[in-house]
Amino acid sequence: MPQHAAVQVNTPGHRYDIVIARGALADPVSWQGLPPASQAVIVTNTTLAPLYAAALQQALAPHYRRVSVLSLPDGEAHKTWETLNLIFDHLLGAGCDRKTVLFALGGGVVGDMTGFAAACYMRGVPFVQVPTTLLAQVDSSVGGKTAINHPLGKNMIGAFYQPVRVVCDLATLDTLPARELAAGLAEVIKYGPIADAAFLDWIEAHLDALLARDPAALSYAVGRSCEIKAWVVGQDERESGLRAILNFGHTFGHAIEAGLGYGQWLHGEAVGCGMLMASDLSARLGLMPAAFVERMRTLLQRAGLPVRAPAIGIDRFVELMRIDKKAQDGEIRFVLIEALGRAGVRPAPDALVRAVIAGHSEPA
Ligand code: NAD
Ligand code: GLY
Repeated sequence: MPQHAAVQVNTPGHRYDIVIARGALADPVSWQGLPPASQAVIVTNTTLAPLYAAALQQALAPHYRRVSVLSLPDGEAHKTWETLNLIFDHLLGAGCDRKTVLFALGGGVVGDMTGFAAACYMRGVPFVQVPTTLLAQVDSSVGGKTAINHPLGKNMIGAFYQPVRVVCDLATLDTLPARELAAGLAEVIKYGPIADAAFLDWIEAHLDALLARDPAALSYAVGRSCEIKAWVVGQDERESGLRAILNFGHTFGHAIEAGLGYGQWLHGEAVGCGMLMASDLSARLGLMPAAFVERMRTLLQRAGLPVRAPAIGIDRFVELMRIDKKAQDGEIRFVLIEALGRAGVRPAPDALVRAVIAGHSEPA
């Protein structure tokens, strides 16, 4: 077990470490004790491969007879069946057996697709998440949600499938574009209102340090975010209740992503704007004071995130929100803030939802 493991995920059927350290990729301790296999496959993309694939391949070499690298096309637009099939083509072509370990080296797109491939290949092979974006380190690599997109809905085809380890090398964030860092901060900010009011205070106080990629600030933000996510997933692995709070801002956000076409706005950007809209809905329902909405707006703006939704049209926006895994019998349900640090999932009157969309969208 790595000595610098910071957080543990415990679900009824699974237990694994989230290793969080600067330099974790090159540290042999990060890779000790994984399931034995003769082959490992690093699944990454054309942007990440030249940056980190060789280092990971070298770190894994002592543990496997063969470590191959598969480089996928980069981007949310490629989170599709066609790209998933490239993974299966590689695994079958390389003669990978059911013990082969997959390593997802990249952001949430690579992580979600590799995890889904691992869940399906020969009915399941082990996989390790090696997240390289802030968003993936604080959210998508933890908890076992894997998926690809369908043209009619984001992340609609997938499986719950836990990794056997998550290895976050904070040094990989050095090469992350500023826009991607901001998108990851949206998911960090999310944990404050839904689960930890003191963390929201901390983020406000340390936002400049986070934007400047201060190692200590990033380390605390990733660690605390992973602790909260592990706590939620540990209680509700399959989202039968509590886990839905992790989707704060996502109902509005998914409509923005789908309405514009995947990849136009980054996932974290859409979630950030969606959190502002969900905060406003919480206030209009009398759950939170109006000052909370302004607090969220200020923080999101400081993080460099967009706070006005694009002009999608209110009817289309509502229609897109119905294609949401939280919807029940066609009724849209929202993650709303009930008190600072506590969230719940509820429906909301259509007129209020439309007022929120109108109030936070660019004019058509
Ligand atoms: P991403 O995977 O598209 O990565 C963002 C961009 O940054 C890509 O171009 C990537 O190549 C590049 N990149 C990644 N790491 C880099 C680095 N260290 N240096 C330079 N460039 C780097 O986007 P993302 O924001 O990481 O993930 C978004 C995806 O995650 C969405 O598909 C979303 O649905 C999914 N997601 C899943 C969960 C979950 O629980 N499974 C949670 C949240 C989001
Ligand atoms: N990102 C939401 C979840 O993991 O449930």
